[in-house]
Amino acid sequence: MFTAYHFREIRTPVLEETALFARSVGAETDIVTKEMYTFQDRDDESLTLRPEATASVVRAYIEHSLYNQGGIHKLYYLGPMFRRERPQKGRYRQFYQIGAEVLGSDNPALDAEVLEMLALFLERVGIKEYHLLVNSVGCLNCRPQYIAELRRALDTVKCRLCEDCQRRAETNPLRVLDCKVETDQPIIEELPHILDHLCAECRQHFDRVKTELDQRGIAYTISPRLVRGLDYYTRTTFEITSGVLGAQNAVAGGGRYDGLAEIIGGPATPGFGFSIGQDRLMMAVEAAGELTAPDSLGAYVVWMGDAALGAANRLVRELRRADISVGIGYDSSKLKKSMGVASKYQARYAIIIGDGELSTGRYQVKDMGTGQQQELEPSSIASFLKEKLG
Ligand code: HAM
Repeated sequence: MFTAYHFREIRTPVLEETALFARSVGAETDIVTKEMYTFQDRDDESLTLRPEATASVVRAYIEHSLYNQGGIHKLYYLGPMFRRERPQKGRYRQFYQIGAEVLGSDNPALDAEVLEMLALFLERVGIKEYHLLVNSVGCLNCRPQYIAELRRALDTVKCRLCEDCQRRAETNPLRVLDCKVETDQPIIEELPHILDHLCAECRQHFDRVKTELDQRGIAYTISPRLVRGLDYYTRTTFEITSGVLGAQNAVAGGGRYDGLAEIIGGPATPGFGFSIGQDRLMMAVEAAGELTAPDSLGAYVVWMGDAALGAANRLVRELRRADISVGIGYDSSKLKKSMGVASKYQARYAIIIGDGELSTGRYQVKDMGTGQQQELEPSSIASFLKEKLG
């Protein structure tokens, strides 16, 4: 699917310099203040197990001067991320993300195109029940004014908020909007909304994103509190939530980060992307009843006696070269026992080779479902199985 949308894979290291995340994700975010696995390398350099990959992708884009190639770069990645969070259902200290980043365009059509791809992806894996929440967090021109307004509003109510929020109100007031503490919610609901403070350009951008989503038939809910837990966002932010997941209900999240490349030391490059939490995705796929059993074995080769082993190995190699999944035991054993193994592996066919088969030059091929058995010449078994297994 990524290929259809013209994305190419990028693989970045699991370890990065700590400063990369502190600067991009934000020194006052939960990720940087309490969740990173950070250690000193032998030369005293501070390294961190990546808590997310957007910063790494943009770092690689700058380091390898991809901007010199011009045009738009569409990159996707899969891999482990690390955050020292309190483990619970759907929240792990090593988890997996499938992500996509597009660098080089601030056009709202890009936001909508990437969200369309994400929606198609969810549809393809069988997730039907989900919500797309969208917001705009403005830009460096309008957000400072909103934050000043937010600070003013917080000044009068912060003493009634949780301890974390009292600190956030000073250090990073936007993070107050992320707070999940129940008793804080009615107070936070009354705080000013960022959507009422967007500059004309940001408003126009957000309106265009919404129009493009409408045109593509993608349903969404506007969620003015969706500021996300990372500081690099500008303009569009979004999350995909699923009701089947419980407390950790975000399957995917992302947004626009037009200032990130400059923060990391590169030329101004707008960007937009998302990451899917693969662990939560699997839970949602399972809840939708769409988890399919792994492919069963095409054939299991049962051999008896040393003379048959050579013939069995030759056949197995030939079948595997024809891309048929085949199993074989390494030790000689009785027919009944080997057939038991074939059933255990849910092999569709068992191929039996003993002294009798070697002398006639025809092997027994047994359909494990129907029990029907026939004799076939070794050279015709691959094409027979290919046809039967489809
Ligand atoms: P994020 O919202 O921090 O965004 O993470 C994206 C997704 O990763 C979450 O929605 C969730 O499904 C999953 N996830 C996060 N933490 C955990 C955890 N501890 N255990 C299991 N799953 C987890 C980012 O990481 C950004 N890099 C997204 C992005 C890409 N923004 C722009 N481009």
